[in-house]
Amino acid sequence: MSLMDKHVILERNATLLLVGSLLVVAVGGIVEIAPLFYLENTIEKVEGMRPYSPLELAGRNVYIREGCYVCHSQMIRPFRDEVERYGHYSLAAESMYDHPFQWGSKRTGPDLARVGDRYSNEWHVQHLADPRSVVPESIMPAYAYLKETPIDVKGFSTQLSANAAVGVPYSDEMIATAEADLVAQADPNADTTGIEGRYPKAKLGDFDGNPQSVTEMDALVAYLQMLGTLVDFSTYDEAAGYR
Ligand code: HEC
Repeated sequence: MSLMDKHVILERNATLLLVGSLLVVAVGGIVEIAPLFYLENTIEKVEGMRPYSPLELAGRNVYIREGCYVCHSQMIRPFRDEVERYGHYSLAAESMYDHPFQWGSKRTGPDLARVGDRYSNEWHVQHLADPRSVVPESIMPAYAYLKETPIDVKGFSTQLSANAAVGVPYSDEMIATAEADLVAQADPNADTTGIEGRYPKAKLGDFDGNPQSVTEMDALVAYLQMLGTLVDFSTYDEAAGYR
């Protein structure tokens, strides 16, 4: 029986052909995918990246809950038009603590990967509460109720432990101090030396214009103001970053 004749058996038997095809694809898949599981680290560490502070993490939860990712991406592609508009293209390391990542696939609004420090807190609060009051042609929905919704602080440390379980390096100390840190970051009168040590570059103070309570607006603005600010690109060494 020649090789051709043997192939005829396969071609004339649909089940056999299906099993054969699956086998071939499975081998190809394993060869490509399996090595990735054994690499120590597929993402290079970049100086400045740290786990999100509890307040930022709470803001990120609001961002996901409200579906901001439906209209906003958080990934600047390495193209000239994007880099000129948004800043340095995104590094993989910049979303290494995101579970799930917020790259997004739709830009009804602008990319937000580096929106931190671009506007004042007051601008963000005004814009989120009533987008058309600052950008008349905006089609973004209003989120004024975030100012009225206090954060449920009790039990928030479980949010950090959950992230730690999937690999975010939250220390036991960070988890133990999570609830106090969450409140202190948004309190203009709090002692913040602990937070500054645990979460360098975290923005401090009252974000939503109401120092009496920690609201979802505080958290969301703290999160937005941090985006893209952790890695210092004036000292980031492109060549070393890719060695
Ligand atoms: C229906 C789509 C849509 C949704 C949902 C949406 N946005 Fe927007 N967003 C826009 C559009 C369009 C703009 C540009 C006009 C403007 O500034 O309002 C914008 C602008 C922004 C800007 C200003 C960005 C810049 O660089 O000027 C920020 C910050 C922002 N959105 C945050 C958010 C957050 C946070 C959420 C979720 C709570 C959200 N957006 C939900 C459409 C959306």
